[in-house]
Amino acid sequence: MTRDSVRDNMGNHRMKYLALYSLGISLMAPSIRAQAKLDFVKDIQPILQQTCIKCHGAEKQKGKLRLDAGELAMKGGKGGPAIVAGDASKSDLYRRVTLPKTDDDFMPSEGEPLTAKQLEMLRDWINQGASWPASATPIASKDGASGAPLEIKLPEYKPSAAETKAIEKLLQAGIDVRPIAMNTQWREANLRLLGTNVLDSSIAPLKDVLGLVDLNLAQTKVTDNGLAAISGLSNLTRLHLELTGVTDAGLTHIKNLSNLTYLNLYGTPVSDAGLAHLTGLKKLKNLYVWQTKITEAGIAQIKKTIPGLEVVAGLELKPIEKPPEKKEDKKEEKKEEKKEEKKKD
Ligand code: HEC
Repeated sequence: MTRDSVRDNMGNHRMKYLALYSLGISLMAPSIRAQAKLDFVKDIQPILQQTCIKCHGAEKQKGKLRLDAGELAMKGGKGGPAIVAGDASKSDLYRRVTLPKTDDDFMPSEGEPLTAKQLEMLRDWINQGASWPASATPIASKDGASGAPLEIKLPEYKPSAAETKAIEKLLQAGIDVRPIAMNTQWREANLRLLGTNVLDSSIAPLKDVLGLVDLNLAQTKVTDNGLAAISGLSNLTRLHLELTGVTDAGLTHIKNLSNLTYLNLYGTPVSDAGLAHLTGLKKLKNLYVWQTKITEAGIAQIKKTIPGLEVVAGLELKPIEKPPEKKEDKKEEKKEEKKEEKKKD
């Protein structure tokens, strides 16, 4: 479980009509777009979902081809790979969608053909290497049992000019702050993989990304001061700070993030004094404090002020350094474990 219900809700509500134009960056003019690097999640995934997934997804695999996940799509179908990265003209997928509609091989075999714009995007995407990020969520079929179009449950969100600028700036620095679903400008950023390359300065532009709902700073070099950049991101619902150097002082910067439902502090030097900054986070549901300096008393205290809060102190997790609790009645096992740990050290 890595997502909370808010995220799941949002993710499930993929849209029929796409927000391709709302970014307002380089998608408007076809001539510019032809040169612009296409983004799989933003540009291509919606086309596949809208037009292909009902026959080439988790439910049906016509021609043994699946287009709902990168690995599967690249493997191809009955006729072998349908996408030749870097060369649309050699890609069966592109050949089929550009055939005359009356051709037996034409795709989609039912429904509306792709528009000229969509064809152009598919072509450019394949020619640019057909990159399909592993992080892209598998594409779900849009029509549920009823076949009725999904409604948007998400409130509309329009980023400000400053926000759009900040997102571009972050992207240039290798930080992808991407929409959480296809039809929305609510965003998420996962910096964990960039890890120690992420400094306070790297995340400074986040201060303008008010549409950010999910932020993972785990294992980065972000410090207490750096967290000032996120102190005003009041839409944030999930925040990963595990395995960072963030201390009690840093938590003063998140005390007003009143929509937080998930906070992970595992492996930080945070103590009870830090938790005391968080008592205003009334929506907090999951708090991870394993391997911190937080005590039972601290946990009891915050649970009292935030009803319904679940605190994971790590007892049921597999310890890395030492078991958080020593029980005499399990001597044998514990000895074994300790030996193991000595070896590792
Ligand atoms: C209504 C169902 C349907 C839709 C929608 C559909 N396809 Fe297909 N697709 C098929 C069927 C059926 C086959 C198998 C045809 C055959 O083997 O001759 C097929 C085969 C293919 C193949 C060849 C697979 C192989 O290796 O033999 C490709 C590529 C393909 N489709 C791409 C697409 C793309 C791209 C879209 C969306 C633009 C799409 N299809 C939409 C039904 C569909």
